[in-house]
Amino acid sequence: MSKGKKLIIGNWKMNPASLEKALRLAKEISKYSKYSRGKTEIVICPPFVFLSAISKKIKKAKLGAQDVHFETNNTAQTGEISPLMLKNLGVKYVIVGHSERRMLGETNEIVRKKIGACLKHAITPIVCVGESKRDESGNYLSFVRTQLEEIFSGLPKTISGKIIIAYEPIWAIGKTAAREATSEEAEEMSIFIKKVLSDIFDAKAVKNLRIIYGGSVNPENSASFLNQRNIDGLLVGRDSLDPDNFKEIIKSV
Ligand code: PGA
Repeated sequence: MSKGKKLIIGNWKMNPASLEKALRLAKEISKYSKYSRGKTEIVICPPFVFLSAISKKIKKAKLGAQDVHFETNNTAQTGEISPLMLKNLGVKYVIVGHSERRMLGETNEIVRKKIGACLKHAITPIVCVGESKRDESGNYLSFVRTQLEEIFSGLPKTISGKIIIAYEPIWAIGKTAAREATSEEAEEMSIFIKKVLSDIFDAKAVKNLRIIYGGSVNPENSASFLNQRNIDGLLVGRDSLDPDNFKEIIKSV
């Protein structure tokens, strides 16, 4: 992604049910790049099974995947997808450490390995972090600090310009969200993430770090997040499956 551009990423999760529907949605979204006026990079992350067909149909949007295995090709990993396979399909971004995958056992150690595997194949990892609840005493900050330390400590500081961090507070994600996060809460966390990574690496290393926000983003709240200084884009779940809403989110950049 070129510097200064906002990133709008659609995470389709386990949707839609057929290739026909997936192609229709992808083609529709690809057209929306005309609304971005050169200010936005649009990325769609469909399920693995649709990636190949969609890669041939989208010209203006970029292709992302929702996960990857940390081993390179040619190892015995039943049911897994390697970074090289994704790269060969034209995938530019991969979501790693999404809370829905962490619920299935993905640890910070695995996230760390997946980041290495992506970078080895020139794929940009979108590294998700975020707490499950907000408490008055600020434990949510130390929770996110620990996630970042466990993922990034010991890695070379040059990686901070090659990754994207998605702040996704679990309490604000999905239909069962407790409430929406405010743009001030997201901005505060973006600044905090930069602080922690400058402790791990150094202040210079975080200059090119990009941080996006995800969790119940919709056309009504998207502009408020994007107007924050330290938020470089949005990771959109449900509303990326609704072409009209996704279009409005793109237009809000
Ligand atoms: P949501 O999902 O927009 O449906 O809350 C966001 C995400 O999980 O990335």
